[in-house]
Amino acid sequence: MKIMKVLLAVGALALTTFSCKNEEQKETGEPMINKGSAEPGIHKASWGMFDNREVDLYTLINKNGTTVKITNYGAIVTAFETKDKTGNFSSIVVGFDSLSPYLQSPPYFGAIIGRYGNRIGGGKFMIGKDTYTLATNDGENHLHGGKKGFDKVVWVADAYVDSIPSITLGYESKDGEEGYPGNLKVSVKYTLTDNDELRIVYDATTDKPTPVNLTNHSYFNLTGDVLKTILDHELQIDAAAYTPVDKGLIPTGEIRAVAGTPFDFTAPTTIGSRIAQVPGGYDHNWVLNNKGGSLAHVATLTDTLSGRYLQVHTTEPGLQFYSGNFLDGKFINHTGNPVNLHTALCLETQHFPDSPNKKEFPSTILEPGQKYHTETVYKAGLK
Ligand code: GLA
Repeated sequence: MKIMKVLLAVGALALTTFSCKNEEQKETGEPMINKGSAEPGIHKASWGMFDNREVDLYTLINKNGTTVKITNYGAIVTAFETKDKTGNFSSIVVGFDSLSPYLQSPPYFGAIIGRYGNRIGGGKFMIGKDTYTLATNDGENHLHGGKKGFDKVVWVADAYVDSIPSITLGYESKDGEEGYPGNLKVSVKYTLTDNDELRIVYDATTDKPTPVNLTNHSYFNLTGDVLKTILDHELQIDAAAYTPVDKGLIPTGEIRAVAGTPFDFTAPTTIGSRIAQVPGGYDHNWVLNNKGGSLAHVATLTDTLSGRYLQVHTTEPGLQFYSGNFLDGKFINHTGNPVNLHTALCLETQHFPDSPNKKEFPSTILEPGQKYHTETVYKAGLK
């Protein structure tokens, strides 16, 4: 197998080495993968420019023909193509085929969220005696890293094929960016295993204490077709409690039992069966029974129509289940169809929203000398 090594200079960040398979590789941006015969490995295509930096699309293929596409703009997963029960491949995540719609601020489709996944109330928090004021981009609150979060920057890519394809994306967030203290070095490694697992490993270090809560904001629809809603999908979450929120979707601080409420997904339950009882739809953090720290299977999504399931495994203590309540058809998926209300959902593994202001929640403060390290696995399969 021919392996190509390339030296690449990207923006202000230092030279990065990556290697990838050369077979069938094109730099044209044209579709290059014939599913039936596609070789496992990584294919790279140029996707345009942003902020005077090159943006590329990396296509990771495993031995089953399962495919994950990732761009270094926003470290976004643009497609996750898996087989349905009839053998047809389609993407189980919402995404676009080109860079330009991603520049129109879609609601975080497939992106890495940072520095802080979800909301920080009032856009303010304290560390010791110091108060920090963040960019506010959701009314008076700070959401998903602010006005220009990690979803809107160009990352440095380092892609390679060992026995399985993976790509590591790096970003250096400067002291003061969006109001956060400290220079934060972040890396996110995506691996596509031969078991159809998309593994995401997040690492970070800082030179000042700062909140960090990284997640991936993929929107799933296991039918592969956004003309169908996700209301018939079945969801199971291994969580006995959730964090209720106020009108601005900021947790009140209470950890409330799910038993006897529409938030009880301890047994597999159809999403649409109780959604009407939740004003605005599901957009809450579940307190996972696994307290975090070790990788555990925490949720399973299934779709009878396609026969697909998706398992979520994570080292994180929380899971934000968002039922696509703000989707309004403004964005057109790669299938050519509008992404409407409840046509996709997110299962964002994370620490709890607004933790920097909630002493009772697990801490999200990363100290200099500490290593932030979390892992999440989305495993696709057929029932
Ligand atoms: C998250 C939030 C939602 C919404 C979406 C993006 O999942 O919890 O309230 O902001 O992101 O639209």
